[in-house]
Amino acid sequence: MTDKYYLKQEDASDNGIELTVRKPIQGPPAIDVTKLYRDQGLFTYDPGFMSTASCESNITYIDGEAGILEYRGYPIEQLAAEADYVEVAYLLLYGELPNSTQLQEFDEIITHHTMLNENLKDFFGGFHYDAHPMAIMVGVVGSLSAFYHDSLDINNPRHREISAHRLIAKMPTIAAASYKHNVSEPIIYPSNDLSYCANLLQMMFATPCESYQPHPIAVQAMNLLFILHADHEQNASTSTVRLAGSSQANPFACIAAGIASLWGPAHGGANEAVLNMLTEIGDVSNIDHYIDKAKDKKDSFRLMGFGHRVYKNFDPRANILREMSKKVLEELADSNNPTFELALRLEEIALKDDYFLERKLYPNVDFYSGIIYRALNIPNNMFTVMFAIARTVGWVSHWMEMMSDPKQRIGRPRQVYMGPSRRDFIPLKNRS
Ligand code: ACO
Repeated sequence: MTDKYYLKQEDASDNGIELTVRKPIQGPPAIDVTKLYRDQGLFTYDPGFMSTASCESNITYIDGEAGILEYRGYPIEQLAAEADYVEVAYLLLYGELPNSTQLQEFDEIITHHTMLNENLKDFFGGFHYDAHPMAIMVGVVGSLSAFYHDSLDINNPRHREISAHRLIAKMPTIAAASYKHNVSEPIIYPSNDLSYCANLLQMMFATPCESYQPHPIAVQAMNLLFILHADHEQNASTSTVRLAGSSQANPFACIAAGIASLWGPAHGGANEAVLNMLTEIGDVSNIDHYIDKAKDKKDSFRLMGFGHRVYKNFDPRANILREMSKKVLEELADSNNPTFELALRLEEIALKDDYFLERKLYPNVDFYSGIIYRALNIPNNMFTVMFAIARTVGWVSHWMEMMSDPKQRIGRPRQVYMGPSRRDFIPLKNRS
């Protein structure tokens, strides 16, 4: 459905420029400015995409004011309470919840794609012994296109689907191998009789000399974290995947680009940064000092895990994770965990502070995810890797959606040039 919008200069005598308004199923309408330059010679200016919709999408809906997150129309709270991650992956990828036959078939496909090409394993040895696992992920995932040539025709829907399955299936294997490299232990093969999350834990914590039985609460917590992190519409990493894919790059290269974007502390790297920050704060008595630092505009310190571009009242994922962190700490670690106590107290103090209230800064999903991962014995530098595994299905779903969209064109933003005007070259000898 469309409507008309008129862009008019204050002193203009005519009706102004007529623009089409695109009406979404939910959310604010969007003014279509695609022909603005062609018809009027004008660009729009919106650094950081504060008010710009980059595409139409059927996958995920967020209402940041109301704290609503829905995958394909299903509220995140219901999916978190009742679904399995693989079921949610199917939903995101294909648009509908699977029936039991579809789920069984999908689960089997994912399970049977978890192994890595043996030659790919050699890549891990090439990384420095203390390489950050996210650096390894960017490199190894990018290299997958060198191994799976048989599914690289991006114009073939079946090839796209096989690549999507491979990425979802192999990501935990690559992640666990990155961890094993980091701790100088042999890579452990996937085990087909385990669930997606149990298999990941097994590949991380088993050794050739000792099998590993994941604790049921650890599997449950990871399943929950993965569901909550599975998609979040046009965030920085998903938009990176779409932009890379818009040039018709292969899916493995696009997902590697998404992983690189996720790594930043303003995005997925925040979960690692939260734990580092809590360690730095160290004690409840130091909280006030760090709150002052976060408020000081001359200080680059920010309260990690606080604030969100879209959520302005609460992040529904953070509410779900706060409860899960209590449960995990009760079952697996010391429930009087000082880090958790510190996090709760920091949240309490920040939520009473005018600076945070005025700017609508609330804990986001990553304020609690790191605390849970820590309780599962996952080291800090693997937190963002966990996020990347979970988000892979979101990235490939958006990539698949984009690739089958007839309106898809190469992404190519414009700019407002503010540099020097044309000037003549000065030979080196004449420069001061
Ligand atoms: N601590 C202190 N001040 C903050 C914080 C914070 N965590 N977040 C925002 N602010 C302040 C800004 O300084 C700014 O203040 P001003 O208006 O006085 O200049 C105001 O709040 C608005 O902040 P912006 O940076 O303009 O908001 P934006 O939407 O661009 O950024 C972001 C959102 C990147 C998430 C930001 O809140 C942040 O850096 N948070 C910490 C990192 C983090 O937790 N990232 C994870 C996000 S969730 C995810 O990606 C999974």
